[in-house]
Amino acid sequence: MNTPATPYGTLPPASTPSTRKPMSLPRLREMHASGEKITMLTAYDATFAAVADAAGVECILVGDSLGMVCQGLTSTVGVSLETMRHHTECVANGLRRSHGVAWLIGDLPFGTYHESREQALRNAIVLMQAGAHMVKLEGGGWTADTVRFLVERGVPVCAHLGLTPQTVHALGGYRVQGKTDESAAKLKREAHELQDAGAAMLVLEMVPSVLSATLTQTLNHCPTIGIGAGDGTAGQVLVLHDMLGMNLGKMPKFVRNFMEGTGSVRGAMEAYVQAVKNGSFPVNALHAW
Ligand code: KIV
Repeated sequence: MNTPATPYGTLPPASTPSTRKPMSLPRLREMHASGEKITMLTAYDATFAAVADAAGVECILVGDSLGMVCQGLTSTVGVSLETMRHHTECVANGLRRSHGVAWLIGDLPFGTYHESREQALRNAIVLMQAGAHMVKLEGGGWTADTVRFLVERGVPVCAHLGLTPQTVHALGGYRVQGKTDESAAKLKREAHELQDAGAAMLVLEMVPSVLSATLTQTLNHCPTIGIGAGDGTAGQVLVLHDMLGMNLGKMPKFVRNFMEGTGSVRGAMEAYVQAVKNGSFPVNALHAW
């Protein structure tokens, strides 16, 4: 397709439809069943989303990490639904304009699914109508009823266990979760509850690699997406700014700077996709616990 040049940034040309199928739940299930690693990156605007899509990233998460990387907050706690709606719409516009095929996940921010399952549905609809294909929410067994309620009403859900940044104050910091036998057993139990409730994906953040690998093997219809959870998960996710080496503070242990040796944003994203697919990222000895 001949994309005309436009001022203020031209989105990359669409990937050829014959080479890339649009992402869908059945397609993600197929990848899971065949053992093909699923790649996910965060994006918060049209251009980065379109570049990630063109680089072959299958899932784009409009994460509430945007509170930190876009808004300059010190945690994700202060992110509002309206902010998430706005950025989800920006990403969806970018994918639409570039004929992207990525699966778009919108993060429900803190306080928008905690009161009741009806509140969760109302707010999930806001993100779905902004262009999300799936919503993500954080938390264990207490969210299972909400997950079931959303899934039954046609809203695909990605769950999130381990380090759940929205509860950083309750957890006492950004720490590895599931290190003791008791907390590991709880995490496993909750993961199965979420799968049984219909969660179609599960992010595992800062969880010991042995625990996440074992869990991944036992969750037959809910692919795990790791971040700081080792190489045994069904897929990987990183925050865009981290993998582009734009983290001005201390880089988290689980991140690789993919700009090194690639020199362009698209090159870095392609290198990330390749490394996740061929299993060379993450390396348990370097990026996991
Ligand atoms: O908000 C976010 O970007 C996330 C990822 C770190 C998984 O939840």
